[in-house]
Amino acid sequence: FSTSPAVAGAIKHVTVIGGGLMGSGIAQVAAATGHNVVMVDQTDDILSKSKAAIQKSLGRVAKKKFADDGERQSSFVADVMGRIQLNTDPVDAAKSTDLVVEAIVENLDVKKKLFSALDEAAPQHTIFASNTSSLPIRDIAESTNRLDRFGGLHFFNPVPMMKLVEVVKIPETSNETFERLVQLGKAMGKTTVDCKDTPGFIVNRLLVPYMMEAVRMLERGDASARDIDTAMKLGAGYPMGPFELADYVGLDTTKFIIDGWSKKYPDVQIFQESPYVNKLVADGKLGKKTGEGFYKYDKK
Ligand code: 3HC
Repeated sequence: FSTSPAVAGAIKHVTVIGGGLMGSGIAQVAAATGHNVVMVDQTDDILSKSKAAIQKSLGRVAKKKFADDGERQSSFVADVMGRIQLNTDPVDAAKSTDLVVEAIVENLDVKKKLFSALDEAAPQHTIFASNTSSLPIRDIAESTNRLDRFGGLHFFNPVPMMKLVEVVKIPETSNETFERLVQLGKAMGKTTVDCKDTPGFIVNRLLVPYMMEAVRMLERGDASARDIDTAMKLGAGYPMGPFELADYVGLDTTKFIIDGWSKKYPDVQIFQESPYVNKLVADGKLGKKTGEGFYKYDKK
């Protein structure tokens, strides 16, 4: 699949809906690669927390980029932050943008309601994309009248470090839309892969069952979480073991994905839920972000 650099109308202005871990990461990388960005969330308070998280992450990037040059580090961070505007009104933000990337709560109805409202307000040329981890893009897109200008852009956590973007095509996505999304992924410094709208696309389809199999191994008492993590890091070269990764991604996210798939595909054994994960989530132990999941973390 060759990507022509001459596809009309490269995406310059990006609106990111959702200022959580993924949304703020996407906003950061889009701004750091020269795009004008509007980040949207429900309250000013949430947005100022997202902004602080971006500033902190940019500080880490700047330290690497301009080692020993504090002045250039500060001006890099200020320059990128200057390209990020904040807005609490998604419809207002959609009125003049080339692309909307949605990274809000994984709830189909909420996403559909959002896109339906945006569809009324956004210009004709605006492309809509969802960063959903596990919901079918087609189901979200049907809330709009722009199926040809709808696709998936699936990033990975932490967005500034992970080099991949999955670009997802629904049957109606036009070639031009798809090309523009691929081009944006590349312009954001990522490697892109083409995906059909199948559960979990490529990465989560393999990664989530792998993490769940590790949990089942623990539930059976075959090995400890620590030993399984050590084994996969040193024996298979993974940067994090499955339990470290599940805690990092968030056990609520992992559970959400597996709950959806187990309901939809009750006969697929590797998609089945786990009593252990269910209990951790019920106890509010969602991983690193709450200070405890499979492991305990120091709260900074
Ligand atoms: N922003 C900027 N820089 C960051 C960062 C962030 N949020 N997080 C880490 N870094 C940088 C650090 O500054 C550090 O830079 P340095 O090497 O120059 O000092 C570098 O990354 C390494 O960080 P650490 O030393 O703190 O830790 P690690 O060496 O363990 O690396 C990691 C951290 C990059 C997260 C690595 O452990 C990793 O790749 N883990 C696997 C992550 C993964 O699999 N993600 C995908 C999850 S699935 C998903 O997201 C899909 C969703 O739909 C659920």
